[in-house]
Amino acid sequence: MKINKSVAIIAAALITAGSLCSLTLPPKQEKPKNLKVLPKDIGHEELIVVMRGFNTSLGVKCNFCHAPSKDDAKHLDFASDDNPHKDVARDMMRMADTINKQFFKGSQQMTVTCYTCHHGNKEPLSQPSDSAAKQISAPPPPPANNK
Ligand code: HEC
Ligand code: HEC
Repeated sequence: MKINKSVAIIAAALITAGSLCSLTLPPKQEKPKNLKVLPKDIGHEELIVVMRGFNTSLGVKCNFCHAPSKDDAKHLDFASDDNPHKDVARDMMRMADTINKQFFKGSQQMTVTCYTCHHGNKEPLSQPSDSAAKQISAPPPPPANNK
């Protein structure tokens, strides 16, 4: 029993090392411990692709959603839920998923992503900006020829 267990641990370590050697972030390659929305068996690289997508979609860095580590404030504790933005992001993931399942069923191109609303901003604009609003509300030009 004891031997089997250590073999399994070594095998797991090799698989982990093999699949993660090209990564730079985060420095310690551990299995995710606290996934509530993403599939628990998501590969590390895939997870980081998703996370980088969040960064670009919202125009933020990882620390916008992830709290600093309690042991070393220079590093982030990715599994921690201490930063409230992380749970907002989880709700947003569920929302986008629901919208896509309900309204964009089977469509490859039409999908709502974080970028669809956020466009590189933390807080999406719910109304047109001033200049765009003026254009929209400006009266139509008078007819050129009204004899
Ligand atoms: C917009 C918010 C947001 C940003 C920005 C973000 N993350 Fe995340 N991250 C999350 C959420 C939400 C989860 C948990 C997902 C879930 O519960 O399924 C998560 C989970 C993780 C996990 C898994 C932790 C564990 O053990 O459960 C890692 C690792 C991670 N993020 C790394 C990063 C890195 C690296 C960056 C920057 C490149 C980043 N994140 C940027 C929201 C964010
Ligand atoms: C349908 C549009 C829409 C989509 C899609 C969307 N969001 Fe949002 N998000 C919003 C709106 C609107 C707000 C601002 C809410 C507020 O101000 O209270 C917001 C706010 C947030 C915030 C809080 C920002 C802050 O400054 O406190 C985070 C974090 C966030 N979204 C993450 C995400 C992530 C991650 C995704 C993709 C999984 C996503 N959002 C997809 C509309 C959207």
